[in-house]
Amino acid sequence: MNWDDTTDTPAAERLVGASADGEDQAVEAALRPKDLGEFIGQEKVREQLDLVLRAARARGATADHVLLSGAPGLGKTTLSMIIAAEMNAPIRITSGPAIQHAGDLAAILSSLQEGEVLFLDEIHRMSRPAEEMLYMAMEDFRVDVIVGKGPGATAIPLELPPFTLVGATTRAGLLPPPLRDRFGFTGHMEFYEPAELERVIHRSANLLDVEIDADGAAEIAGRSRGTPRIANRLLRRVRDYAQVKADGLITRDIAQAALAVYEVDARGLDRLDRAVLVALLKLFGGGPVGLSTLAVAVGEERETVEEVAEPFLVREGLLARTPRGRVGTPAAWAHLGLTPPRSTATGNGQQDLFGA
Ligand SMILES: Nc1ncnc2c1ncn2[C@@H]1O[C@H](COP(=O)(O)OP(=O)(O)OP(=O)(O)O)[C@@H](O)[C@H]1O
Ligand SMILES: [Mg+2]
Repeated sequence: MNWDDTTDTPAAERLVGASADGEDQAVEAALRPKDLGEFIGQEKVREQLDLVLRAARARGATADHVLLSGAPGLGKTTLSMIIAAEMNAPIRITSGPAIQHAGDLAAILSSLQEGEVLFLDEIHRMSRPAEEMLYMAMEDFRVDVIVGKGPGATAIPLELPPFTLVGATTRAGLLPPPLRDRFGFTGHMEFYEPAELERVIHRSANLLDVEIDADGAAEIAGRSRGTPRIANRLLRRVRDYAQVKADGLITRDIAQAALAVYEVDARGLDRLDRAVLVALLKLFGGGPVGLSTLAVAVGEERETVEEVAEPFLVREGLLARTPRGRVGTPAAWAHLGLTPPRSTATGNGQQDLFGA
């Protein structure tokens, strides 16, 4: 589902973009871990959540509201379904953008069963009036339904059965504090370690009936940007290659050859990421250069460069956003096998840009 109606996300078309496209959604449903024991990595969140859920179960109570934050594809939706499964509760799934009016939310809330899990994806994109209704529902399990319009309008209080709200957001910083404070537990999802992604890949390969050896899994894991969704997607593309060009077994050689075809490099950078770095280093000597200029140089929209390519490049320490513009780091020069100009090599010109 693409709930984002304001932008036509280019990330969805990219092999290493972290958002989900149609094919992903179908496969994802099949690959989702079903309980906490099956969920790989995120040790901290898993342990904390395990305690929260166990304690609630022991008390025979409904679990506290849970907020899950983290980058796309790290397992927020998966974990929300696991919460429902662990509580043996039904789950209702909706999203912030789908709730434009307080009435939309009231309709959902008033039809919840006792103990039900309400999963509210992209919770930071809910409308203001709905948000205010949610405060009361979370705290007091009560909403005021407004009947009528104008001076004759009356608020009818409606009792709700206790439920567990699971909110997910890629942008925890955008949540108003009163909303954030009403969650009894907040789990922040981190990017996965390569070893964890290897386990994700082996598990998925098993479920998809794909043969892969340890080196093949390690090769794919290293290019998956710390993200299980990307790991699963790369696995499927490498499987295609292994099927068509070899005997089906995924080895390191096969993974490397396949990912070369799909232009995903050893560090997980794709064509756009590399185009941005090449322009930054080769055309602008490593910067600083303004975002708009950089975007024109690679023939992309400003937003695409900023929102699709840059977050990963920044995270990898390949690009820095400075007040004077974008700057390629020494690691970027090394990654592309280029020699930085003297001023960068000696650190004189750019060192102070990094605040050193
Ligand atoms: N810990 C994990 N172990 C195994 N597989 C995982 C794990 N986390 C995520 N996955 C896999 O990655 C896929 C994407 O996860 P999920 O849809 O839960 O991400 P998300 O955080 O909700 O992303 P978005 O922000 O785009 O909604 C799932 O299909 C699942 O198979
Ligand atoms: Mg999700």
